[in-house]
Amino acid sequence: MSMTIIVTGGAGFIGGNFVHYLLKKYPDYRIVCVDCLTYAGNMETLAPVMQNSNFRFVKVDITDRENIFKLFEEEHPNMVVNFAAESHVDRSIENPGVFLNTNIMGTQTLLDACRKFGIDRYHQVSTDEVYGDLPLDRPDLFFTETTSLHTSSPYSASKAGADLLVQAYNRTFKVPTTISRCSNNYGPYHFPEKLIPLMIANALNDKPLPVYGEGINVRDWLYVEDHCAAIDLILHKGLVGEVYNVGGHNEMRNIDIVKLILKHLDKPESLITYVKDRAGHDMRYAIDPTKIHNELGWLPATKFADGIQKTIQWYLDNRGWWEHIVNGEYQNYYTKMYGKK
Ligand code: NAD
Ligand code: DAU
Repeated sequence: MSMTIIVTGGAGFIGGNFVHYLLKKYPDYRIVCVDCLTYAGNMETLAPVMQNSNFRFVKVDITDRENIFKLFEEEHPNMVVNFAAESHVDRSIENPGVFLNTNIMGTQTLLDACRKFGIDRYHQVSTDEVYGDLPLDRPDLFFTETTSLHTSSPYSASKAGADLLVQAYNRTFKVPTTISRCSNNYGPYHFPEKLIPLMIANALNDKPLPVYGEGINVRDWLYVEDHCAAIDLILHKGLVGEVYNVGGHNEMRNIDIVKLILKHLDKPESLITYVKDRAGHDMRYAIDPTKIHNELGWLPATKFADGIQKTIQWYLDNRGWWEHIVNGEYQNYYTKMYGKK
C-alpha cells in the first residue's frame, strides 16, 4: 500500500537515518521531511535523496502553526513521525526555553494538525531519559514502560511534557498515537557535540577528549538503524495508545567507550582529559525491551563491536560531513561550553 509519511527533524541524526531507511525499504512511499534546520539540521545528510521523486523537503518550524497546517492540507499524510527536537542535554542546561518551545509546543502544533486533518498514526520519538536515571549499584533495575516519569534535565522534562501531551490527545481527542522511548543511539550522521562523534572527531584531530566527572556514567547504546527498524515496526504493527521501550541491553561506561575509540584509531589515552561534570548528570540508563520484543518481534541486529567499527569507518570516509560542522558556527558553541570546564 502506498502512503505519505511526514518525518519531522529529518535533517538531524536519527531522522536523517530514518528518511534513508524508509526510502530504501518502501520505494512506493512518499516521504515528506519537515525541518527548520537549526544548528543540528544538515542538508548534506539529505543530499543522497534530494533527487528522489518520492521525497520532498520542506523548511518549516514545527511550531509554525500556519505553515504546518498548510502542509497537512497539501499532503494529506497518512502518518507523522516526530523526530524534530532540541536534543542536547548540555544545551538545555544553558538555555531551557527553546527546548520547551520546540519539544512541547511543536508537538502540540503537530497533534493539532493531526486532529484537524485526520491521521492514521502520529508517532512520537521519545527517549529513555524521561524515566530519570538508575543507580550504578543496582544492575538488576531496568526502565520498563510502566516506570514512572522522573526527569533530571530541562531536555528530559520537555520530552516528558511532550509524551504526556501525546497521551492526552490520544485519550481526549482520539488521535491515534504511539510513543517509542529509546536509549542512546550511535551511527552515521551523528552531530559531533554528542559523546561518540565528538570523541572520534577530537581523536582524529589529536585534540583532548573531554570526559565529564570520572567517566563512570553508564549509557545503553543502540545502532541507529536498529532504532529505525523499531519505529518502522511500531508504525506498521504497533497498537494505538501504546508506549514501546527500545534498547539493546548494551550498557557501557563513558570512559570505556572513549578508550575503545582511541584504540580503534590508534591514538594515545593521554588525549583523555577529565573535565567538570554535567550538572544533574544521570548515572545510568538501562532499557528493558521485553515488550517490543514479545509483541512486535523486534531485536537489535547490530552488535556494538560491529556498530562502533562501522561508525568509526563512516567518520573516516566522510570527513567532509563533520569537518564542515566542526570548522563552522559550532566552534563558538564549543569554546563557550568547554572553555570554562
Ligand atoms: P538532532 O539534534 O540530531 O536532530 C534534530 C533535528 O530536528 C534537526 O535536524 C533540527 O534542525 C530539527 N529541529 C529542531 N527544532 C526544530 C523545529 N522547531 N522545527 C523543525 N525542525 C526542528 O536529534 P537526534 O539525536 O536525531 O534526535 C531525534 C529525536 O530522537 C529527538 O526527538 C530526540 O529526543 C530523540 N532521541 C534521540 C536519541 C539519541 O541518542 N540521539 C535517543 C532517543 C531519542
Ligand atoms: O538516552 C537517550 C538520549 O541520549 C537522547 O534522548 C539525547 O537526545 C541524546 O543526546 C543522548 O543523551 P546523553 O546525555 O546520554 O548523550 P551525550 O552524548 O550528550 O552524553 C553521553 C554521556 O557522555 C553522558 O554521560 C555525558 C558524557 N559526555 C558527553 C559529552 C558531550 C562526556 O563525558 N563528555 C562530553 O563531551
